[in-house]
Amino acid sequence: MVQAKSWVLVKHFDGFPKDSDFAIKVEELPEPKDGEVLLEAIFLSVDPYMRLFSKMHMKEGDVMIGTQLAKVIQSKNSAFPVGSHVVTSCGWTTHSISDGKELTPVMADWPEDVSLSLALGAIGMPGLTGLYGIEEVLGLKEGETLLVNAAAGAVGSVVGQIAKIKGCKVVGSAGSEAKVAFLKELGFDEAFNYKTITSLEEALRKASPDGYHCFFDNVGGDFSNVALEQMKHFGRVALCGSISVYNDSFPQTGIFPHTTINHKELKIQGFWDTQWKHKDGESLKRLMAWCKQGKLQCREHVTKGFENMPAAFMGMLRGDNIGKAIVAV
Ligand SMILES: NC(=O)c1ccc[n+]([C@@H]2O[C@H](COP(=O)([O-])OP(=O)(O)OC[C@H]3O[C@@H](n4cnc5c(N)ncnc54)[C@H](OP(=O)(O)O)[C@@H]3O)[C@@H](O)[C@H]2O)c1
Repeated sequence: MVQAKSWVLVKHFDGFPKDSDFAIKVEELPEPKDGEVLLEAIFLSVDPYMRLFSKMHMKEGDVMIGTQLAKVIQSKNSAFPVGSHVVTSCGWTTHSISDGKELTPVMADWPEDVSLSLALGAIGMPGLTGLYGIEEVLGLKEGETLLVNAAAGAVGSVVGQIAKIKGCKVVGSAGSEAKVAFLKELGFDEAFNYKTITSLEEALRKASPDGYHCFFDNVGGDFSNVALEQMKHFGRVALCGSISVYNDSFPQTGIFPHTTINHKELKIQGFWDTQWKHKDGESLKRLMAWCKQGKLQCREHVTKGFENMPAAFMGMLRGDNIGKAIVAV
């Protein structure tokens, strides 16, 4: 018998999440039946979508949604032998039983000197999101100028680096001086702290006086409205996320950007990485190759201890992380 600890959503978030919204539940798991495996979490991911999807897909008392990198510790399914590693969407839990249907084995021949935690980051969902946003949504071309916000985070840091690999000029914004220094280290051409500038319009114009061909938008809200004004004619926007509004209890109202979009003939596409799931195998190999060649730096912000999941999640929403926010059990 194994005891599984899980974090549940006690109460739907009202505004920014707080400690009392979460509670630990402990339950005994039965032995795996034929076809099943018992999994033990090694690394868990904390991501912005958990805040967004909690409103849409969860009810109070549910285990917090999420993915983790887990090890198979008992197996009655020959596809997943004991000791193998998988990515699973079983939520914020230390142990779980699976029939294998929703498990993704980590890439075969994962190099020993690369942390398996990257399967939740640059060589996992956030990396794929950056890659698909650039290639499938924006169709970014050599010589173009790209703007990315939340640029020092899991998705943003990959986006900027892939754009550099493709020979583009990259402008990034992030929320601290340490993050701006990190973006410079990654090779961003221009980077600024959106929290200390006096005018976003001026900062964007200074970084690229001729405007932007492409905008990879992770933030939404006011930032997007200002950035759209500085797109070039026929500019393209990949709407990846809108973290600036996820914690709102009431929808924000702002200027309406439709005349700008119309006038500049902009193309704006919202997307989820899952649209290109059929390409994941080949895409993960490319991300791993860039990582091994030193072209893709995969920084992580690791919080130790399963008991610190809520703190890690709230810290990520607050902007504590440089790179991918991860919890190591
Ligand atoms: N479409 C998809 O398939 C997909 C997949 C993954 C993620 N996403 C989206 O991509 C975005 C980034 O996700 P991620 O996993 O890479 O997270 P992340 O950037 O690693 O972490 C979130 C970051 O957002 C920034 N932030 C928080 N509140 C903000 C605000 N009010 N204004 C501006 N920035 C704010 C913080 O950085 P600062 O210090 O810079 O503020 C924080 O570090 C999110 O919108 C997420 O929902 C979409």
